[in-house]
Amino acid sequence: MTAEFTKRLDELSDTVNRKLEDYMNLVLAGTTGQRKVAEAMTYSLSAGGKRIRPILTVEFCRVCGGTVESAFPAACALEMIHTFSLIHDDLPCMDNDDMRRGKPSCHAAFGEAQALLAGDALLNFAYEVISGGEGVSAETKIALIAELSKATGVNGMIGGQVIDTIFARKMTEDELLNMYSMKTGALLRCACKMGCIAAGAENEKIAAAGLYAEKLGLAFQIIDDILDVTGDEQLLGKPIGSDSDNGKTTYVTLNSIENSRRAAGVLTDEALKALEAFENTEFLNELTLFLLKREY
Ligand code: IPE
Ligand code: IPE
Ligand code: MG
Ligand code: MG
Ligand code: MG
Repeated sequence: MTAEFTKRLDELSDTVNRKLEDYMNLVLAGTTGQRKVAEAMTYSLSAGGKRIRPILTVEFCRVCGGTVESAFPAACALEMIHTFSLIHDDLPCMDNDDMRRGKPSCHAAFGEAQALLAGDALLNFAYEVISGGEGVSAETKIALIAELSKATGVNGMIGGQVIDTIFARKMTEDELLNMYSMKTGALLRCACKMGCIAAGAENEKIAAAGLYAEKLGLAFQIIDDILDVTGDEQLLGKPIGSDSDNGKTTYVTLNSIENSRRAAGVLTDEALKALEAFENTEFLNELTLFLLKREY
């Protein structure tokens, strides 16, 4: 990784963190009787995380020639929905994981009921944030909300989580990849496409961003599966061995670690190819490779 890449990655994630903090301060300040849920929302959202999705939104807006500032409401909204998905994913009725982002999971810290509600509240606050975005036209806001609600819902992330919880014990590779495209790919595709939408890009660019993210999403989940076996819990900030504890079929139960790494590499190359539809993609190129080599 070049020093320039690392610097920009840190800057972008700092900016996202600052903006998220501002939003959560509004929630904390505005709550009266129900402060507990605001605290639980803030706890999980501010626990860290790579902030890959909001960074993708901002970067796709930039490479499409948009004003980066106009992408932040959608970028932050998406990180809220991603965090909601993680809070619910960790619940005892789902993956039953007690650690997330290096801290006790939301339900471990606040109890199941508050974790469930904090997830619900983050999901709804996300749409409040996009609706209230300054310097974004009403038409663009509707397009962003349409994209985000579709990506999150029954045919997107949530639909993928349903397949994961019901069928993950007996899946073929094609079925597994379809599930990955939904549970993980949908929000990553949404991240990239919303950046293009915020910039007012034409449909071909939005489609190219979607193709890039489709490949990236599959590679990302395969690496996540590998890290669940080979990762370092401290670095990862979440338990390893969760998938096997839950008896899940993952990419690494169907393939060797070596072949899984190879598949993630091929998908990364395909993602890089799709990026050729854009200009000024030095940062995005490095980000794509960084995500392939990540250890957390
Ligand atoms: C974890 O996502 C869930 C998956 C889709 C694999 P990330 O690896 O982006 O988690 P954070 O946001 O960095 O914590
Ligand atoms: C993540 O899949 C899917 C989500 C939509 C949250 P995992 O269950 O593998 O994610 P981690 O490993 O718990 O982060
Ligand atoms: Mg899961
Ligand atoms: Mg999980
Ligand atoms: Mg995992």
